[in-house]
Amino acid sequence: MKHLTILTVLLFLSLIRGQMVNEDEGRPSCSRCDLHLSCNCSYSGFTSVPMVTDQALRLDLSFNNITMVTQDDLIGHSRLMVLNLHGNRLAVIHQSAFDSLWSLEELDLSDNQLNTLNHKWFSKLEVLQQLNLLDNPYRLRRLMFGGPDLKELRREDLSGVTHLDELTVHANNLTRYDSGTFGDIWPLGHVSLSLYGPFLTNTELAAALLNDVCYPETWITLVDFHLPNYVSVQLFKDTFRRMRNLSIRNLSLSDEATVSFLPLLDGIPLRSLSIVGLTLTGEGRWISANRTDLSSLDEFFISDVTIIDILKFAMTSDLTFLLQYQKKLSIVNSKMFLLSCYLTQTMVNTEYLDVSDNLLTDLTLPYMLCDSGEVLQNLRVLNISGNHLKSFSTMSRLVRKLTRLTHLDVSRTSYSSMPPSCTWPSTLRYLNISRAKLATITPCLPKSLEVLDLSYNDVKEFVLTLPVLRELHLSGNKFLRLPAGGHYPIWETLTIQSNTLNVFGLSDLQSYRRLENLEAGHNKFVCSCEFVTFLHSQLVGSGDVKITDGKQSYVCDSPFYLQGEAVSQVNLSIIQCRPVLFVSVSCGVAVFLGILVSVLLWRCHTFWYLKMTWAWLKAKRGSQRRWKQRNMDGSEPLLSFDAFVSYSEKDASWVEEFLVPALEEPSDTDSVNPTSPLTLCLHKRDFLPGHWIMDNIMNAIERSRRTVFVLSENFVQSDWCRYELDFSHFWLFNAGGNTAILILLEPLSKDNIPKRFCKLRKLMSSTTYLEWPQEEERRPEFCRSLRNALRGNDEQEN
Ligand SMILES: *[C@@H]1O[C@H](CO)[C@@H](O)[C@H](O)[C@H]1NC(C)=O
Ligand SMILES: *[C@@H]1O[C@H](CO)[C@@H](O)[C@H](O)[C@H]1NC(C)=O
Ligand SMILES: *[C@@H]1O[C@H](CO)[C@@H](O)[C@H](O)[C@H]1NC(C)=O
Ligand SMILES: *[C@@H]1O[C@H](CO)[C@@H](O)[C@H](O)[C@H]1NC(C)=O
Ligand SMILES: *[C@@H]1O[C@H](CO)[C@@H](O)[C@H](O)[C@H]1NC(C)=O
Ligand SMILES: *[C@@H]1O[C@H](CO)[C@@H](O)[C@H](O)[C@H]1NC(C)=O
Ligand SMILES: *[C@@H]1O[C@H](CO)[C@@H](O)[C@H](O)[C@H]1NC(C)=O
Ligand SMILES: *[C@@H]1O[C@H](CO)[C@@H](O)[C@H](O)[C@H]1NC(C)=O
Ligand SMILES: *[C@@H]1O[C@H](CO)[C@@H](O)[C@H](O)[C@H]1NC(C)=O
Repeated sequence: MKHLTILTVLLFLSLIRGQMVNEDEGRPSCSRCDLHLSCNCSYSGFTSVPMVTDQALRLDLSFNNITMVTQDDLIGHSRLMVLNLHGNRLAVIHQSAFDSLWSLEELDLSDNQLNTLNHKWFSKLEVLQQLNLLDNPYRLRRLMFGGPDLKELRREDLSGVTHLDELTVHANNLTRYDSGTFGDIWPLGHVSLSLYGPFLTNTELAAALLNDVCYPETWITLVDFHLPNYVSVQLFKDTFRRMRNLSIRNLSLSDEATVSFLPLLDGIPLRSLSIVGLTLTGEGRWISANRTDLSSLDEFFISDVTIIDILKFAMTSDLTFLLQYQKKLSIVNSKMFLLSCYLTQTMVNTEYLDVSDNLLTDLTLPYMLCDSGEVLQNLRVLNISGNHLKSFSTMSRLVRKLTRLTHLDVSRTSYSSMPPSCTWPSTLRYLNISRAKLATITPCLPKSLEVLDLSYNDVKEFVLTLPVLRELHLSGNKFLRLPAGGHYPIWETLTIQSNTLNVFGLSDLQSYRRLENLEAGHNKFVCSCEFVTFLHSQLVGSGDVKITDGKQSYVCDSPFYLQGEAVSQVNLSIIQCRPVLFVSVSCGVAVFLGILVSVLLWRCHTFWYLKMTWAWLKAKRGSQRRWKQRNMDGSEPLLSFDAFVSYSEKDASWVEEFLVPALEEPSDTDSVNPTSPLTLCLHKRDFLPGHWIMDNIMNAIERSRRTVFVLSENFVQSDWCRYELDFSHFWLFNAGGNTAILILLEPLSKDNIPKRFCKLRKLMSSTTYLEWPQEEERRPEFCRSLRNALRGNDEQEN
C-alpha cells in the first residue's frame, strides 16, 4: 500500500459547520470483533457510531447509515489504527471527534455527505498516513501542504482533488515527482511553489512539476528561487510559453543565471511579471541578454532589490529591453537613485510609473523626467512617494509637461513649503502630499484637484478654492476647527482625524452640502453638552453626514472626569446640560413639595403640636417669672379660687345653670354637714379683660387649687384646643398641688377622644372621673362628691 508522506495537511474551508449536540444515551453497541481485535460492524444499519471495545485495533463501520460523529463517539480508542466510515451518510463530524485517535494510520471517510472539511479533524492525528475523502460533495478551495520532509509526490497522492482556487506546495527538498501528479487539478487559480532544491539540483523534476500546473489562466508564484549558475532553460521553454502571470518571491540571480534565464522570457506572451525580493550576486554584465523581447509584458513590478557587491556592480548594458514596453512599471524600495532620461524616453507606453521608496532627489529627478525635453507622454499615474525630495516647485515644474497625468503621489517626502503659485498639468486630479512637513498651503495647489491628501503635515488652516474637490484628507495636522465648506461645492469625503479639534457641530456641517463621509475621531474633544448631544445624534445616523470612522474613535479629552471616555458612552446629566431648565424645574418641584409637605403637616396637626409646644414654653417662662417675682416679694402664692373650670362654650349653660349655683351658693341640702360656698374661676366671668388669654389662664390655674374639666362631646370635638391649652397649664402646675378633676357630662369613651390628646386619655384611664347623672335623684350625690373632691378630700378622688 502506497503511503502518503504528507505531513501537514491544511484544508481550508469555505464553511465550517457548527457543533452538534451529542445525545449519548441509548447508543447501540457492536461486538463483532475477532481475535486480532479487528471489529467488523459493516452492513448493520447503525445510524450512529456504536459502542465498541476500547481495545479494537481496526474498526469497520462501512455501509451503515451513520449521519454524524460526535465529540464523544470515539473517545478512548487510542489504540485504533484503522477506521473505515466508507459508505455512510456522514454530514457532520465534530471538530474534535478524532482527537483521541493517536494511533490512527488509516482513515476512510469516502462516499459520504461531507459538504465541508475541517482541518481540525486531523490536527491530533499525528501518524495518519492514509486519508480517503473521495466521493463527498465538499468543494476544496485551498490546499496547502509540504515542508522540509516532503520528499516524494506520487501519482495517486492527490487523486480525487480536482479544481482548486489555491494550491500551495512547499517542496524545497523534493526528490521524486511522478509526472502528472498535479495534472488532474484544473481549473487552478493560484499556484505557489517553493522548489528551492529541485531548481538547484534537479531541474527535470522542477520542470515536470511546473509543467503540470501551468495554464494561461493560472497565476504562478515561485518562492525561494535561487539560480547561482548557468541554467539550461530548454526544459522550461514550453512551460513558460503558457504563463501569463508570474510572480517570484525571494529570487537570487548571478550574472550567468540572468543571462541564461532572460532568454526564457524572450518573446513569450507573459503579461505580468512581479519580483519581490531580488538579490543580484553578480556585477551587472547582462549584455548578451539585451535582445530579449518582452514586448507583451504589460506589467512589471519589482521591489526590494539588493545588490550584493554594490561597488563592483555596473549596469553595463542598458535596460531598455526590460523596461520599454510596460504600461505599468513599478520599481519600489530598490535603492534606486537615478533613472536616466535615456531610459524614460523609450518608455512611450508607460501609463503608470511607481518609483516609491527609492533614493531619488531634487537633483536626480530632473534626469528621470528629462528636465525640459519630452518624456512619458502617456503617463497617468506617477508615484514618487518616499523619496528624498525637498523642492515642491521643482516637482511642479517637472511634471507640468506630463500632459495626461492624473495622479501624483509625492507623499512621505520632505517638502516643507510651497511656492505662492505653480503650474500643473490641467488633467491632475489626485495629489497626495501626505506625511511631508508642510505648514502652510498656498494657491500653488492645482484647481483641478478632486482628491487631495494632506494628512500628517503641520497644517493649521485650509482656505483654498478648489471647485471640483471631492475628497480632502487632513488627518494628523493641527486643525482647531473644521474647514469651512463654502469653497468646495461637491465635497464628499473629509478625514480630519488626530488633529486638535475640540468640538464641531451642526453649524460646521451645514456648509458641507454634499459631504457623505466624515472621519474626525482621535481628536482632543471637549465633551460639552452640545457636542455630546450632537455626536450622539450623528452616530445613530440621523444626520446627512455619515460618520464613518467608528464611534470608538471619538473620545473625550476634557473635562477631566470624562477623559478617555468614549463620547458615545458619555451620559451628561441635565444639571450639566440645562442649568436654567434644571433650576426652574427644581424650583417648581421644591414649591410643589413644600405645598405637599404643608398639606401633610396640616393634615397631621403638626401646626397644632407646634403651637402647643410654643404656648407651653411661653407659659412656662411666664410662670417662672411670676414665681421668681413672688419669691422675691417673699409672699406666699395667692390662692383665691377653689377651682378653675375649663369647659366648652357649648356647655356654658350647664356650667352657669347648674355647676356655679351648686358650688358657689351655700348648700342646704346637706343639713348634717352644711358646707361653705366654693369659689370658682370661670373664664367668662373672672378673666381680666385686656390681658393675654394665656396669662389669664396661667393666672387662673395658679390661683386655683383645683382644675375642673367639664368633658363632653362638645369639649372634645370643638374645644379640644382650649382644653389642651388649659390642660397643659394645668399639668405644669400639677406639682404645686393643683390636681385635675374630670367631669363627664355625657358618657364618653376613651376611644372617642382624638389620639393626640394623649394626656387626657392617660388621665382618663388612671383617674376616676365624675359622671353627671342623667337621673334627677342622683344629682345631689354628684354635687356632694364634687364638693368633696374640690375640698381636697383625697379618698374621694379614686
Ligand atoms: C466486513 O464484512 C463485510 C461483509 O459483511 C466484508 O465485505 C468486509 O470486507 C469486512 N471487513 C473487513 C475489514 O474484514
Ligand atoms: C439506510 O436508511 C435508508 C432509509 O433511511 C434505508 O433505505 C437503507 O436501507 C438503510 N441502509 C442500511 C444499510 O441500513
Ligand atoms: C531540506 O532542505 C533544507 C534546505 O532547504 C536543508 O537544509 C535540509 O537539511 C533539508 N532537510 C532534509 C530532511 O533533507
Ligand atoms: C530566501 O530563500 C533562502 C533559501 O531558501 C532562505 O534561506 C531565505 O530565508 C529566504 N529569504 C526570505 C526573505 O524569505
Ligand atoms: C496576476 O494575478 C494577480 C492575482 O490574481 C492579479 O491581481 C493580477 O491582475 C494578474 N495580472 C494579470 C496581468 O493578469
Ligand atoms: C545589444 O548589445 C549589443 C552590444 O552592446 C549592441 O550592439 C546591440 O545593438 C544591443 N541590442 C539591442 C536590441 O539593444
Ligand atoms: C504609491 O506608493 C505607495 C507606497 O508603495 C502606496 O502606498 C501608494 O498607494 C502609491 N500611490 C498610488 C497613487 O498608487
Ligand atoms: C497617500 O499616501 C499615503 C502614503 O503613501 C497613503 O497611505 C494614503 O492612502 C494615500 N492617500 C490616498 C488618498 O490615497
Ligand atoms: C451611558 O449609558 C449607556 C447606556 O445608556 C451605558 O452603556 C454607559 O455605560 C453609560 N455611560 C456611563 C459613563 O455611565
